[in-house]
Amino acid sequence: MRKAANVSDYRELARGRLPHFLFEYLDGGSYDEVTLAANVGDLREVKLRQQVLRDVSTLDLSTELFGKTWSLPIGLGPIGLAGMYANRGEVQAARAARAAGVPFTLSSLGVCPVQEIARKLQSPFWLQLYIIKDRGFVRDLLAQAREAKCDALLLTVDLPVPGSRYRDYRSGLSGGTRLQRGLQALARPGWAWDVGLNGRPHSLGNLEPVLGKNTGLEDYFGWIGSNFDASITWHDVAWVRENWDGPLVIKGILEPDDARAAVTNGVDGIVVSNHGGRQLDGVSSTARALPSIADAVDGKLPVLVDGGVRSGLDVVRMLALGADFVLVGRAWAYALAGRGQAGVAHVLKLFEAEMRVAMALTGCTKITDIGRAIIDRR
Ligand code: GLV
Repeated sequence: MRKAANVSDYRELARGRLPHFLFEYLDGGSYDEVTLAANVGDLREVKLRQQVLRDVSTLDLSTELFGKTWSLPIGLGPIGLAGMYANRGEVQAARAARAAGVPFTLSSLGVCPVQEIARKLQSPFWLQLYIIKDRGFVRDLLAQAREAKCDALLLTVDLPVPGSRYRDYRSGLSGGTRLQRGLQALARPGWAWDVGLNGRPHSLGNLEPVLGKNTGLEDYFGWIGSNFDASITWHDVAWVRENWDGPLVIKGILEPDDARAAVTNGVDGIVVSNHGGRQLDGVSSTARALPSIADAVDGKLPVLVDGGVRSGLDVVRMLALGADFVLVGRAWAYALAGRGQAGVAHVLKLFEAEMRVAMALTGCTKITDIGRAIIDRR
C-alpha cells in the first residue's frame, strides 16, 4: 500500500477505497465548487513572517476551550455519514481524537448514534445538532447528549435548505437507486467487506427514531429538505439554550453582524463556516471572512473556524487570522476512509508536527503568541 505523507495522499487513498458515491459526497461541494476551492486557495495564500533567533526550543501547543485543556487548538468537526467511510467510523475517529487529546464532534447525520459513541468511548465528546421540525425528537437528542456528558453542542445554522450538489446527483447518492450504489460498492471489495458487510447497521443512528432502521441513504437529501426547519431564528436558539446547559456554539457564521448577534444572544462560541463550501457557492472563503468576524467579536466569545484546513500550517494560518480554535473536516475523513483510526491518528500527528515547524519559524512559543503580527502583508 502506498504511504501517505499528507492529507492529499489520504484523499487519494480515500478515492481508491470508497464507493464512488461516498467519495463524491465527502469530497464535493455545491454548484461549481467555487467556495470549496476558495476555502483551500485563500488559506494557502496567507503568507507568514519568518522570525528567527527567538528561543523556540520549547513549544506549548495546548489550548483552553470551554473549561478544558486540549493538546492542540484543533478539533474534529462534524462530518455526515462518517460511519460509511470506515467500520463504525465515528467510533474510530473519536478514539483517535481522544488519544491525541483533542475533541471529536459527532454529526447528527452520523451513522453511529450518541449512545454508541458514549458506550465505546467512555469519555466526553461534542455533538453537532440540526433543528428539525419535530421538536420532540430534538429534545430527546439533547437529553441523550446530556446523559452522554457531551461537553459542547454545535448548532449548525447554515443548512436551512440543502445546497445543490451536482456530484451527488451524478453519483447516485441523491436520487439514485440501490442497484447503482450497490454496483459502485462491489467495485471496492475492501470497503464492501469492512463496511458494507461488517460495518452494519448503516442507518443514520441518531435519526432512527424518525427515520427507522433502514432508510439511511434512501433519498438522503429529500429527507433533509422536508424535515430540516427553515423557519428557525434566534428564538429557536433560545429554545435550544433552555434545553441545553453546556457550551452552545453556533456553527455557520460568515458575517460580522451575525457574529455580533451571537454575542448579544448569549451563546458560548461561534464557528466561522460556510459548511465546507457545500451550501451557498459564491460566498466568501472562511479565511477571508474570519478577520472581520474576529474583530466584531472582539474577544467576547471564542471564535472557531473551519474550511480548507489541510495541514498544521493551515491551522497556524487560521489562528493568525483571528481564530481561537480550528476544526478540521475532510482532512480527518479522508484519513479515516484511507486507514481508519490509525489514519486519523496519523493526520493529527502530522498537523502537530507541521504546527511546530510553523510556530518555531514564526517565533511563536505558545498558541496565544500566534496572531496577525505573524502575517506577512508585503
Ligand atoms: C451535511 O451536513 C452535508 O454537508 O452533507
